[in-house]
Amino acid sequence: MANVFIKELFKHLDQTVTIKGWVYNFRSSGKIAFLQIRDGSGFCQAIVTQPLPKITIETSVILTGKVSKHPKKEEYELQVEDLKVVQLAQDYPIGKKEHGPDFLLENRHLWLRSPKQWAIQKIRHTIIYATYEWMDKNSFVRIDAPILTPAACEGTTTLFEVPYFDLGKAYLSQSGQLYIEAAIFAHGRCYDFGPVFRAEKSKTRRHLTEFWMMDAEMAFVEHDENLKIQEELISFIVQRVLEKNQTELKILERDPKPLENIKAPFYRLTHAEVVKKLKAMGADAKEDDDLGGDEETLLSKSFDKPVFVEKYPAKVKAFYMKRDPQNSNLALCADMIAPEGFGEIIGGSQREEDIEVLLARLKEHNLPREAFEWYLDLRKYGSVPHSGFGFGLERLVSWICNLEHVRESIPFPRMIYRLTP
Ligand code: 4AD
Ligand code: MG
Repeated sequence: MANVFIKELFKHLDQTVTIKGWVYNFRSSGKIAFLQIRDGSGFCQAIVTQPLPKITIETSVILTGKVSKHPKKEEYELQVEDLKVVQLAQDYPIGKKEHGPDFLLENRHLWLRSPKQWAIQKIRHTIIYATYEWMDKNSFVRIDAPILTPAACEGTTTLFEVPYFDLGKAYLSQSGQLYIEAAIFAHGRCYDFGPVFRAEKSKTRRHLTEFWMMDAEMAFVEHDENLKIQEELISFIVQRVLEKNQTELKILERDPKPLENIKAPFYRLTHAEVVKKLKAMGADAKEDDDLGGDEETLLSKSFDKPVFVEKYPAKVKAFYMKRDPQNSNLALCADMIAPEGFGEIIGGSQREEDIEVLLARLKEHNLPREAFEWYLDLRKYGSVPHSGFGFGLERLVSWICNLEHVRESIPFPRMIYRLTP
């Protein structure tokens, strides 16, 4: 008997096949039982007319039977001829009743099986895969940045410290960017994609202490082209999800309409223009400060596509950002703000390529020169204008799936008050 995945049942109409999975729900009425089966690839109904052995929710089973089509829906079912219980599940803690977020997070190892959580991880997979695909087509080489590092990349307030043998302290990477900058002098265009760490004191729906970042970096690319690359990449990712994940979007009750509109070019506004706009909307935005979470949300809700906020005040941004040649108080940077209230998904900038300027910046930011000697070397041996950006995978997943909180976008979220499971 052919073993098949549920998502491929339609190819086997009227054939006898075997599926292996779990019972996520069932009901029986006298002589006939209806089992709802999932196998990782999809969901289907199995109809059992023979005496049913003891079954519980989440019992693992192997079923053999004939594939039939639902009389009204585009769904394929299994008319079971043989049912084997692999393990009779104990009382499953996640029921159909509403559970609070704490209970579900405490049971995250089980919660992952629920259809919505399943759909989110499938979409996350598409986003990761689409990123690799686009980067590869556009001549980027994947370079793996280290996680244990000697210094801060994104400011010292969110660093996780680890004792490191005789060398004293190491820090968990906040972003692979500085290392990817080194690699472009060998490969031209590079990216990394992996976990990063921020000891974020903020308990918001957008913050995790461990999350996944994709850092891209390009030699001989300046500010404008940097933004073009970002909007092309994001458009590609969203279109791929629309092609591959209609089933998952439906499970999530995510309206695909706003996503269909996500095509380059995106909107571009300077930070000064955004502050003006926000003030006109009654928000408390400041010319010389970063945007707060609420302001980001407000801005995000007023656009139907992502918007780049360009040229922030340099003093609120990282040491490596090049200044705007037209106004040295501003950074040649942009954050990409996703629509529908989701806020920042990308941070990026042109990088300072001049060693003297960079030395002055390290001083201003109170960063120890010794830890950055290797980074300064990149400005000594064939320095070139270059730019890059980093997207936060969980922010991207949350927007595309329309999730209330980033904690559902990652399999096992890490937050200030959560380290288990
Ligand atoms: O804006 P950030 O801090 O930029 C950097 O780290 C740069 N070095 C990236 C680069 O240029 N290569 O972080 C980049 C993105 C943010 O736009 C956001 O999407 C996400 O990472 N992010 C977080 N996601 C979840 N939880 C947090 N605590 C996050 N902090 C940043
Ligand atoms: Mg940022």
